[in-house]
Amino acid sequence: AALPFESRTIALVGLMGAGKSTVGRRLAEKLGRPFFDSDTEIEKAAGLSISDIFALHGEADFRRGEQQVLKRLLTLPPHVLATGGGAYLNDETRALMREHAITVWLNADLETLWKRVQKRDSRPLLKRGNAKQVLTDLLAEREPVYSQADLVVRSKDGPHTNTVNAILKALK
Ligand code: S3P
Repeated sequence: AALPFESRTIALVGLMGAGKSTVGRRLAEKLGRPFFDSDTEIEKAAGLSISDIFALHGEADFRRGEQQVLKRLLTLPPHVLATGGGAYLNDETRALMREHAITVWLNADLETLWKRVQKRDSRPLLKRGNAKQVLTDLLAEREPVYSQADLVVRSKDGPHTNTVNAILKALK
């Protein structure tokens, strides 16, 4: 991220429940930029929900679609981009994100993530076993990769406005 943030997309990465979509939308509003959500773009392109894509086509197809969608989004003019929790784990996508965007890891602790993911029943990965254990394992597995983001911002339990403000502060 050698260039000033004004000229770059801000891409939010982190686990399910980190607040990427909510924080991303509000950050985009504050910056007067467009907002994109990779999960939503995949659903639009497929005409299916994320759960249905996993159920009907499997994770590998979902990951291919995710990669394609991110490739396209990353060529658009500067915007705020919320990515699905697994997007940054793909080497090629991560390289593209690092090239075209300032990446921000929304780092939340396990209990905060767990509290938030229980509000919505739309994460197929959490149905592969004991949901809290899956989340625990994903956090341990992915933390070393997420931590390669340009900026790390804590996403604490409580109002997302705090996280939005922390990002704005970290960008300046
Ligand atoms: C995934 C996270 C989800 C969605 C899919 C897979 C992951 O996005 O892309 O269920 O691998 O962590 P959110 O992080 O927006 O929930």
